[in-house]
Amino acid sequence: MGARGLGITFLTLPLVIRAAAGGQWCYDSQDPKCGPSHWKELKATCGGSQQSPINIDRRRLRRDGRLGDILFEGYNQAPPGKWRLTNDGHTVVLSLQGDSAAEHINITGGGLPGTYRALQLHFHWGSLAGNGSEHTLDGRQFPMELHIVHINVNYRTLGEAKGHPNGLAVLGFFFKVSETDNSNYNTIVAGLRNVSHHGDFVDLASTFRLSNLLPSAGQLSKYYRYQGSLTTPDCSEVVVWTVFEEPVAIGRAQLKAFVNTVHFPAAGSVLLKMTNNFRPPQPLRSRQVLASRDATTSRGAACGSCRQLLWALLLLPLLGPAAARPS
Ligand SMILES: *[C@@H]1O[C@H](CO)[C@@H](O)[C@H](O)[C@H]1NC(C)=O
Ligand SMILES: *[C@@H]1O[C@H](CO)[C@@H](O)[C@H](O)[C@H]1NC(C)=O
Ligand SMILES: *[C@@H]1O[C@H](CO)[C@@H](O)[C@H](O)[C@H]1NC(C)=O
Ligand SMILES: [Zn+2]
Repeated sequence: MGARGLGITFLTLPLVIRAAAGGQWCYDSQDPKCGPSHWKELKATCGGSQQSPINIDRRRLRRDGRLGDILFEGYNQAPPGKWRLTNDGHTVVLSLQGDSAAEHINITGGGLPGTYRALQLHFHWGSLAGNGSEHTLDGRQFPMELHIVHINVNYRTLGEAKGHPNGLAVLGFFFKVSETDNSNYNTIVAGLRNVSHHGDFVDLASTFRLSNLLPSAGQLSKYYRYQGSLTTPDCSEVVVWTVFEEPVAIGRAQLKAFVNTVHFPAAGSVLLKMTNNFRPPQPLRSRQVLASRDATTSRGAACGSCRQLLWALLLLPLLGPAAARPS
């Protein structure tokens, strides 16, 4: 009798867990039934009109000369304390809140509506076969994207910040693949094997300058700015987005480590590698994307074509009538 009762308990437990998983969000690579197109069924905000990510179409930008240099404070020194790397089931997240040190890592200027303190950074990536950035640039997706999440210093908690459209500022950086490793990413990449499974965490051996993770300082004045949301449920529309034009170089082997080492939460006995943990671009609707003072807009690209045309016109007479005649 007692044994039988126990048996029933054990048999019903997986069913309960599966039912709970029905209310969870996921990526299509885990299960299309709870992927990004279903998020709005769980959280209406995810179907809102100011969602992220977006495609940044450089033909439709408005240049804003007030979007100059962002002041990165505390980005240039390794703070005391420890940074914890965690597999949260959706990504790998590095908490920047060791020993109140994060209070001294902040951004301001560059048209940001306030001062924002760094909370955490995390990544979105693809697979061995495909790119995985969330934002796209002129329709082009990049291999990976880094998000550094900052909270407006006027708000004390994430919950409070989510009540305000300027509550959070997220910096987005694209990656490009290089054949050599980017040694500035060694600490994070080495930590990946310690966060292989959902819920795993590891305190990194040392903190480092956050600026090491970014493109060179001279490239940071080229960025795009728009008002959007978190790219995961609850999709709160409280994010001032800054997406940088210049990608960060990362080694092919380092990118592979993300794709091959980290796993999504186990679904029953199935352990899936964490791949394609990105949300696709959302409709821009009535929003305007701004280009910083130094960013490349399509005018630059158009001029590139103009120059080709000019060369063609100059060379045409030299090539003779045969070249000029359509064949
Ligand atoms: C921003 O960071 C700088 C440098 O670490 C620090 O001196 C300053 O107090 C911080 N500002 C705020 C508002 O947290
Ligand atoms: C994927 O990324 C590579 C390297 O950045 C790029 O050349 C390619 O166009 C991208 N593919 C797509 C479909 O965006
Ligand atoms: C991280 O993983 C490596 C390899 O499995 C192991 O040698 C190391 O002790 C781990 N580090 C921590 C802090 O758990
Ligand atoms: Zn993100």
